[in-house]
Amino acid sequence: MGKVNVVVGMQYGDEGKGKLVDFLAAKADYVVRFQGGNNAGHTVVINGQSTILHFIPSGAFNDNICVMGNGVVLDLDVLQTEINMLEEKGVSLKDRLLISENAHLILSDDVEDSMNDKIGSTGKGIAPSYTNKYAKTGLRVRDIINVENDLDDFDVNARSKLLKFKKFLLDHSYLKFQIVNVSKVLNDAIDAGKYVLFEGAQATGLDIDHGHYPFVTSSNCTAGGACTGSGVGPTKINNVFGVSKVYITRVDRDGAGPLTTQMDKTMMEKIQKKGHEYGATTGRPRRCGWYDAVLNKHAVRVNGLSGVALTKLDVLDGLDEVKICTHYELNGENITDYPADAITQRRCKPVYETMPGWSKDTGECKTFEELPAEAKFFIKRIESLLGVPVIMVTNGADREKYIPINMDVLE
Ligand code: IMP
Repeated sequence: MGKVNVVVGMQYGDEGKGKLVDFLAAKADYVVRFQGGNNAGHTVVINGQSTILHFIPSGAFNDNICVMGNGVVLDLDVLQTEINMLEEKGVSLKDRLLISENAHLILSDDVEDSMNDKIGSTGKGIAPSYTNKYAKTGLRVRDIINVENDLDDFDVNARSKLLKFKKFLLDHSYLKFQIVNVSKVLNDAIDAGKYVLFEGAQATGLDIDHGHYPFVTSSNCTAGGACTGSGVGPTKINNVFGVSKVYITRVDRDGAGPLTTQMDKTMMEKIQKKGHEYGATTGRPRRCGWYDAVLNKHAVRVNGLSGVALTKLDVLDGLDEVKICTHYELNGENITDYPADAITQRRCKPVYETMPGWSKDTGECKTFEELPAEAKFFIKRIESLLGVPVIMVTNGADREKYIPINMDVLE
């Protein structure tokens, strides 16, 4: 039997999942996206060179087989642009890019429809494409292949769109031959002893069911989505790893979604600048807040996490004090569980534990022991609040910048 692990975001996206996936992908055979579309922007930095991937799994740089499961929504034009961009960087996906025949397509109308929605989506057609999927009016990758055989099954409008896609695929035969039954491919691989790694996009706080609806994306970004979005059963999954920044960010339009621990303006601008907190897909500045243990504990539970990677420790270097929100207060009561709705969440006031910061630059530390005592205390406090081991802490953008802690959890 092979090995199956899942990586998910614990906050509102942009936690640095790409970095953990890239790290784990060194040993994996398959890296699989199971939900979302090009609303995602996963940054991988290798030797100072940064690449932002929107569709292709972050395993692209490790010679893994890259897979897009049925839970993904696909914009073929954008996918092709990304393939070309990678080729220009010397990364070929030839014979190692597999796409589920059941993945739904993002059409140009979908993109237009998502441009000015109320919650400030990424404008990539994600919600309209999933809307069509669940209304059972969507078009899937397999329809492109079948269109000429099944012409009568499609109305005139759908037919012309599919034929256009078909031409696109024939022009890019490179893609055409890699449309597969992902469930079969992955299950056969697992049976043959291979390591399959699932790469979540977006995050727990943006999950359509477990985030703060309606300020969420349109898919299940949590661990269960790996099963439904690929056709690999839950009994095959060994471990689920969560990724969380040592602070928190959120990107949307005009602060639409709740961010209970939002920092004051001066601190936020400092963190935005130091942490390069600008959306990888939208370019919008990300709002920043202090570490929210209530949300992160929710992520531990909803995803059944085995361990957590904490990212961007170095961004907090040089602060006089750092804060962790341990619980909320609402109408004089302590709230320790993440509220189910955005309205209640907005009313909650954060209750902080404030602790001394550290002046030492952690970016050069290679071991936990080398970290300043205050940073060690901060990490250990987060670990005890979450109740699961911290696997590693990252301390810089580059692939090599991480501090191992409980790495045995990864085995
Ligand atoms: P949509 O996924 O484009 O429909 O956008 C819904 C919400 O999720 C918006 O607030 C987006 O800013 C947010 N969102 C979607 N994808 C990401 C992501 O990859 N990182 C961070 N926020 C995201």
